[in-house]
Amino acid sequence: MSDYLSATGLEVSFGGLRALQDCSFTVERGRITCLVGPNGAGKTTIFNVITGFLRPDAGTVSFQGTPLDGMKPQAIVAAGIARTFQNLRLFVDLTALDNVVVALPSQTGEEPLAAIFRPLHVARAQTRHREEAMQILQHVGLAARAGEFVRNLSYGEQKLLTVARGLATGAELLLLDEPASGLSASALDQIMDLLRRLQTEGKTLLVVEHNTRVVQQIADEVLFLHQGHLMARGTPEQIISDPALAEIYFGGVI
Ligand SMILES: Nc1ncnc2c1ncn2[C@@H]1O[C@H](COP(=O)(O)OP(=O)(O)O)[C@@H](O)[C@H]1O
Ligand SMILES: [Mg+2]
Repeated sequence: MSDYLSATGLEVSFGGLRALQDCSFTVERGRITCLVGPNGAGKTTIFNVITGFLRPDAGTVSFQGTPLDGMKPQAIVAAGIARTFQNLRLFVDLTALDNVVVALPSQTGEEPLAAIFRPLHVARAQTRHREEAMQILQHVGLAARAGEFVRNLSYGEQKLLTVARGLATGAELLLLDEPASGLSASALDQIMDLLRRLQTEGKTLLVVEHNTRVVQQIADEVLFLHQGHLMARGTPEQIISDPALAEIYFGGVI
């Protein structure tokens, strides 16, 4: 009933490597859930399965009670789940604004001949899209950089832009793959502030994160993944203070 997103018995193998094994977990609506675990634990693979980029060998993912099995990535976005990628996947030769415009749902299914037969209608729609995209950039703190090409943005700004693109889809569940990695202290504060703000606005966030300070500051709940299996779940304090998990995560170096 409280299961907003639920994954049950996920199995994914790449050749002989079992990336996910009997992996089950839930994410509750309105929360920030952090997905943690050592490199190679299967965190990105979970995102790929949820968002339809990868079919699991077994198991199922349900969103608000509806199984997502077999749905294409675009249909899953339309159902309300958007993601960002660890390697950003932005259009580096487009402006920040255009990167958001192309993520708006109204961009898909546009009639190809409309530009010829209904030019005024199309021009108005384009103006509306640009205004909408501008509001989203404002929301993430990038309004002043709207006209800048992505390749000229700082890494922190590019990370904010990936979140803006997720917001543009209108999705209420956002899956963010390492949104804080590689950021300076001030960029880190900016993204944490944004994630908390999104939560108060009603978004649900599932966030892959390595930085324990970030996890402590933003997570309501932590899922600890090890060798493709959900090993523990709890509050940040419970997870971080567990010596057995610290041993797995840090190899006993803390
Ligand atoms: N497309 C793929 N082909 C082969 N192996 C993969 C592929 N994607 C992931 N893996 C492997 O699956 C395991 C889990 O990867 P991943 O989900 O990216 O881990 P994480 O994001 O937790 O670091 C790793 O051992 C990785 O090398
Ligand atoms: Mg990963």
